[in-house]
Amino acid sequence: MLLAFDYICYAMKLLIKNIKSLVQVREININKVCGKDMAVLPCLENAWLAIDNGLIADFGKMEDFPGITDWKDLEVIDASGKIVMPCYADSHTHIVYAGNRESEFVDRINGLSYEEIAKRGGGILNSVKKLRDTSEDELFDQSFVRFNEIILQGTGSVEIKSGYGLNLESEIKILRVIKRLKDLNIIPVKATFLGAHAIPAEFKDNKKGYIDLIINEMLPAIAKEKLADYIDVFCEKNYFSAEETKQILEAGLKHGLTPKVHAEQLSHSNGIKTAVECKAISVDHLEFCNDDDIVLLKNSNTMPTILPGAAFFLNLQLPPARKMIDAGLPVAFASDYNPGSSPSGNMNFMMSLGCIDYKLNPEEVINASTINSAYAMDLSKEVGSITIGKKANIFITKPIASYGYIPYAFGSSLIETVIINGVIF
Ligand code: NIG
Ligand code: FE
Repeated sequence: MLLAFDYICYAMKLLIKNIKSLVQVREININKVCGKDMAVLPCLENAWLAIDNGLIADFGKMEDFPGITDWKDLEVIDASGKIVMPCYADSHTHIVYAGNRESEFVDRINGLSYEEIAKRGGGILNSVKKLRDTSEDELFDQSFVRFNEIILQGTGSVEIKSGYGLNLESEIKILRVIKRLKDLNIIPVKATFLGAHAIPAEFKDNKKGYIDLIINEMLPAIAKEKLADYIDVFCEKNYFSAEETKQILEAGLKHGLTPKVHAEQLSHSNGIKTAVECKAISVDHLEFCNDDDIVLLKNSNTMPTILPGAAFFLNLQLPPARKMIDAGLPVAFASDYNPGSSPSGNMNFMMSLGCIDYKLNPEEVINASTINSAYAMDLSKEVGSITIGKKANIFITKPIASYGYIPYAFGSSLIETVIINGVIF
């Protein structure tokens, strides 16, 4: 297995020169882009980018290159014909899981719906069974493979949720694995406690008992070990109602956890309203988001986050992304990488879906997958744009005509080099 520390350590100082186009350049940092501004993607053509001590040190046009001859041990990369972009911020994943659900994929091909599979005890509860039977070390090893996979696909910061344990011991096991990934200090990792992902079999007829367990036992233990930044709830028919969602989010807030919500994915369940009322940092999925919800979001700081992989994989009706942007809202994209509804963390493909299915333009999907998704996990001061002082988590493409090629050539891997903390990964 590829070890994190195996990535080749080049000089502390790195200069990338002759960049065909340096994309998402924000001289003055912004924390998100909304509405019409999402169609604006500032770029520098024929540019250079200097990296020092893991951070973006400076950049400019080749014709104005100052010549930094005093730099010792300077590594130079020639990016002629290539695009340089900030890495993607993937603000919604479930990459810490055990095994896979490939057999349910086949069940779905043969006609069963996601809801029907869940009713038979499959779905999330299938992953719960597998995870409870997996040791923490084994779970770490399986998750670490996915962690490396997404970095190589261009992801330079990630949020990871629990939610396949659904008891104290196993939720803690997942959150400890997330902490181990975070403590590697490779890319920024945010941890979300999603105990309210489903009702476990042993509480089938006692949902209230399970909510009490989340609030009275899981939350205090997680807060004591400082294992989570966020609290999330799957607000959905047959899962958690808007009232239950509010109760759980408020309990999380008391322990210092900021809310995020899985909302309006399979039906309209008032998840957006609840998320906005609880000042959630993001509200995610949104397939059944209606006009009233758009108004609620307009009067909030909550980032509407679309998960194109899940809507694609489950053949769901699409969230009204175009309508949201036209109403002046920001929109973020994330992969939702998980074994049941989006077994891919490839943000390049999420952007292709954004252009093809949602009719967003390449500028909009790049903004959605970098600065806006960084906002959705409170990282837009650190990542998400080419700005002096931000982390040098960037990627260099193969020679391509323009940044629009990334979503256009769907399924191709156009990333040649990923640089994390100023080091080639
Ligand atoms: O974000 N919607 C709920 N949770 C996940 C799916 C989890 C699963 O099927 O394992 C999601 O799509
Ligand atoms: Fe999810």
